[in-house]
Parts: sequence; C-alpha cells; structure tokens
Amino acid sequence: MTEQEPDPAELMKIAVEVAREAARTASEMRLAGVSGLATKSTATDVVTAADRAVERQVVAALRELRPDDAVLGEEYGDAVPAAPARVRWILDPIDGTVNYLYGLPNYAVSLAAEVDGRVVAGVVRNAATGAEWTATVGGGAFRDGERLHGSAQTDLAQSLVATGFGYDAARRVHQARVLVGLMPKVRDIRRFGAAALDLCLAAEGQVDAYYEKGLNLWDHAAGGLVAAEAGLLVAGLAAAPVGPDMVVAAPPALFSALQEQLIRLDAAGGP
Ligand code: IPD
Ligand code: CA
Repeated sequence: MTEQEPDPAELMKIAVEVAREAARTASEMRLAGVSGLATKSTATDVVTAADRAVERQVVAALRELRPDDAVLGEEYGDAVPAAPARVRWILDPIDGTVNYLYGLPNYAVSLAAEVDGRVVAGVVRNAATGAEWTATVGGGAFRDGERLHGSAQTDLAQSLVATGFGYDAARRVHQARVLVGLMPKVRDIRRFGAAALDLCLAAEGQVDAYYEKGLNLWDHAAGGLVAAEAGLLVAGLAAAPVGPDMVVAAPPALFSALQEQLIRLDAAGGP
C-alpha cells in the first residue's frame, strides 16, 4: 500500500484544534498564577510550569491524532516515532514567556507542520486574546478568517520595524548596536516580546517588517509561513535561508532596503 500524501489543509485543521486547546491551558494556568518558574540558558531565559504543561498536552494530542509523526518542542526536544516520519510538528508551547510571566497579553502557542523538511501548515494563537493566524503553503495566510497581504509601505524611512533580542548578554550588546544604526533609517522600532506574533503582525501589516537574530525553529516555523503566505519575503541575509543567524520578514518593496541596512550593520554577525 502506498502512503497517502500528507495534506497541508488536513494538517492545519489538526494544528488549529490542538493549538486552541493548548492556548486554553496556557491562559487558564496564567489566571491561576505563574508556577514552576525556573531558568534555562541565562538568568533571564525563563520557563514555567505552563510552558511544560502545554508542550506535554500538545505532544499527547498529536500522538493520539497522528501517532506516526515526529514532534520537536522547545521544552522537551524531539519526540520521534519508531519509523522515520515524513511529518514533523514544530512547537513553541508559549512564545513570549517573559510576557506570560508579567501578565502582558502577548504570548502565543505556535505550532507548525513540516512535510519532508518543509513547513506546509502553521497556526499561531495568542493565548491571552484568542487572536489566531493560520497559513498553508500555497493557500494564503489568514487572521480569524480574513486573508492577509502585509504592508503596502515602500519606503524604509517610513517603516515601523519589529525586532527582538536574545537572552545572552553579549548577543544583546551586538543587537543593541545594530539597533542604534538602524534607528535613524526607519520610522520607529517595536519590541513586543514574542517572535511568532511579530511575524504575524508583519503578515497583517500592523508593522511593516520584522527582523531578528538568534531565533530557534519553533519561534519562526509557523509565523514565518504566515508571513510568507501573506506575500512577504522571509529569508536570511544575502540569499541565506532563515536560520539562527537571521530571520527577516518584509514586503518585497522593503526587503532590499532593510537587508542593505542589516548587512551594513552586520546584524547576522556577532555572538
Ligand atoms: C523569545 C521571544 C522573543 C524573542 C526571543 C525568543 P520565548 O521566545 O520570541 O520575542 O526576542 O528571541 O527566544 O523564550 O518567549 O519562547
Ligand atoms: Ca517558548
């Protein structure tokens, strides 16, 4: 029997169902108060009981619905099935954990599905507000059912650009230097604290563009697809693919100008 081709629309339906339940858990746990607080890579890189509980819940739900798939999650790493899997789910149980900690309503469950190493479906759900962004490859990007097209801005000097910073002090020093060089070239900068949501805001045109060094796959897998399907270019610098060195998401009319500045400032370099 030949294996059925995984259908992005089908995977998206599952992603949405699972992400909604996961977001409910995150917001219910937040209402009950933050617990299980611990640190990871640095003293400011935090994890809570909710990050872990949400990840366990999502992995269990996917095991039930798609037992042959692999899962990569931020908190527990890889969960691999016995046989090699074509489908891999990529999960950030809570993107924006520092916002979660402070009760700022900007944290999200981010869940993407890869087929043969390519992201084909994704959902980002703001667990505090219930806003939800979805995309399938070739099928467009949507917020709560409304199709997204990104910003129509064509002038970098008039652009509102979102970015973020890592948890490592040396990296932050480099990122701050880049910011100092970029500030005079753009309208303004926004730092909201959740990369997946930043990418969705860029997809929606609520910011004109977004860039960040140091993201992990779970930070950008779903949001990157949402931005790309909204018509943005989502890439690294100088024809590099997205990766830990750089993720830029900008409408085609802005991408080159932003990229030029980021290259000039060595934004993908440093620690
Ligand atoms: C972080 C957020 C933040 C970004 C960091 C990420 P986390 O993810 O997305 O906005 O600037 O680079 O690590 O720790 O909240 O899952
Ligand atoms: Ca996270």
